[in-house]
Amino acid sequence: MLESKQMTRAVLAWLGLGSNLGDREANLRFACERLARTPGIAVEAVSTFRETAPVGGPPQGAFLNGAVRIATTLSPPALLAVQKAIEREAGRRADGPHHGPRELDIDLLLYGDATIDTRELVVPHPRLRERSFALDPLRELGVDPGTIPRRESPRVIRDPAEFAAHCDALRRGGCRLGLVPTMGALHEGHASLMRRARADCDRVAATIFVNPLQFAPHEDLARYPRPFAADLALCAREGVALVFAPSVEAMYGKDFISRIAVGREAVGMEGAVRPDHFSGVATVVTILWSLARPDFGYFGQKDAQQLAVLRRVHQDLRLCGAIVGCPIVREADGLAMSSRNVYLQPEDRRAAVVIVAALREARARFLAGERDAERLVAAARERLAGEPRCRAVDYVELRAPDDLAPLPKGPIGPARLLIAARFGDPATRLLDNARVDVDEVLAP
Ligand code: PAF
Repeated sequence: MLESKQMTRAVLAWLGLGSNLGDREANLRFACERLARTPGIAVEAVSTFRETAPVGGPPQGAFLNGAVRIATTLSPPALLAVQKAIEREAGRRADGPHHGPRELDIDLLLYGDATIDTRELVVPHPRLRERSFALDPLRELGVDPGTIPRRESPRVIRDPAEFAAHCDALRRGGCRLGLVPTMGALHEGHASLMRRARADCDRVAATIFVNPLQFAPHEDLARYPRPFAADLALCAREGVALVFAPSVEAMYGKDFISRIAVGREAVGMEGAVRPDHFSGVATVVTILWSLARPDFGYFGQKDAQQLAVLRRVHQDLRLCGAIVGCPIVREADGLAMSSRNVYLQPEDRRAAVVIVAALREARARFLAGERDAERLVAAARERLAGEPRCRAVDYVELRAPDDLAPLPKGPIGPARLLIAARFGDPATRLLDNARVDVDEVLAP
């Protein structure tokens, strides 16, 4: 029992118990006894034990499940350490198969009315509401499922300070945080960034913000697609924990005048066609980065010049973490995925694949031995010119593969070909790029 002085500070917590290996009932009873003998824990009530079918994992035998209500003065991490120790004492091996059969499982389901989101611990348990094997014993112990704090997934945050606070809490909880900045209208390209972030990090924060600073007055800011519900569904599907979707006012306020100046990576190509664009991109990404302070931020290689500009800003401003560039994701016919592809009429959409043909043409010639930059660019331009629905070619340029520096004169070595061309009326600008010296796949 807890001493009365301690009891005043005690928190009610509910632990789920499960076993499907060995003497299942003895394992659950052992857990209850061991909990009761642990200083700082008073076992108040134990549910009946019930047999349930396994959920997930390899084929395995039925579980015996139950729950206990405890009053505890232990902090959630200390309680978790006790749970793990008891599981080990019951014979559970740390290297057993993931979600495989086990002697004992002790899950912290509820800890008072606290919500906890750390690397080790998510409380209330994330799938508690879907799991009758945990919910039924809780009901028996007097928990009304309607009062369990709801876990919005992903959590949508509109306020910059709140976003910063959430990211901070995740980092303090030991989570490695991945940031995926977007302007919404999400597609498989964005999903691939989120998947990569999920693989590298414990939690992923995506941002959805159509950034006015990166649009010129004549550009498509007003008509840029904003399918927020579908975007949120994609984020949920990809396991994103936080979605930061601020209003323009919340991001910039009315007196906002600062801009990040960008340098040589922004010269030429997109920088020539859209003079203030990269300064606007750099400004918003720097703000998002300083709010989230991520371990990694993910950007697509499709916007190769944007990636080069952001790598430079990240390095020069000594921002925390690292930038990760991710491969281009393509439609079945090879066209690079872009939020702006939806603007295209079907015939223009079909014609747009000529960009991929132009990239392939230049690469085939390079791999066949052509090293003259002008002739390679001319071959790509000729391909584009052969497509009557291609209304204009903004640029076709060969640059250094990663930082996109202009190539030295003379025969070229490793290089990236970058193309921007316009299709349809009103014209939609499409960007694409590929290494000419590497036989990378240009269709999925
Ligand atoms: O690539 C984009 O979608 C945007 O330029 C970015 C990086 C989210 C900044 O608004």
